[in-house]
Amino acid sequence: MAQYPVCLAEDIPMNEKKTIKVNGEKILVFHLEDGFYATQNSCTHLVAPLGRGKIIDGCKIQCPFHRARFDIRTGAVVDWANFPPGIQLLNVIRSEKALKTYKVTVDAGKLMVEM
Ligand code: FES
Repeated sequence: MAQYPVCLAEDIPMNEKKTIKVNGEKILVFHLEDGFYATQNSCTHLVAPLGRGKIIDGCKIQCPFHRARFDIRTGAVVDWANFPPGIQLLNVIRSEKALKTYKVTVDAGKLMVEM
């Protein structure tokens, strides 16, 4: 595990997110009410860029493709792919899979991610 600088804390307003390439991997850094969190950027369903999705309920990220929802803090699947109707047929071969998460710390106003 190593710590990598990603951006300034002030670069990500509350309830916003930012896609950042760190150590060769695109990650998504979130600013929630209780702090900063990071997940992988690609959806575990069919690799859609979650950076184009939206934050809902202040703690979940919804995929822009088939609306899977993940808990930002833990990466756990909250709702699996469900849009458009019929996408569930694919779920036989694309079963639920949590997002990778990364620990974010704030050091003198800079965000550091552990990877
Ligand atoms: S690619 Fe994200 S739900 Fe299908």
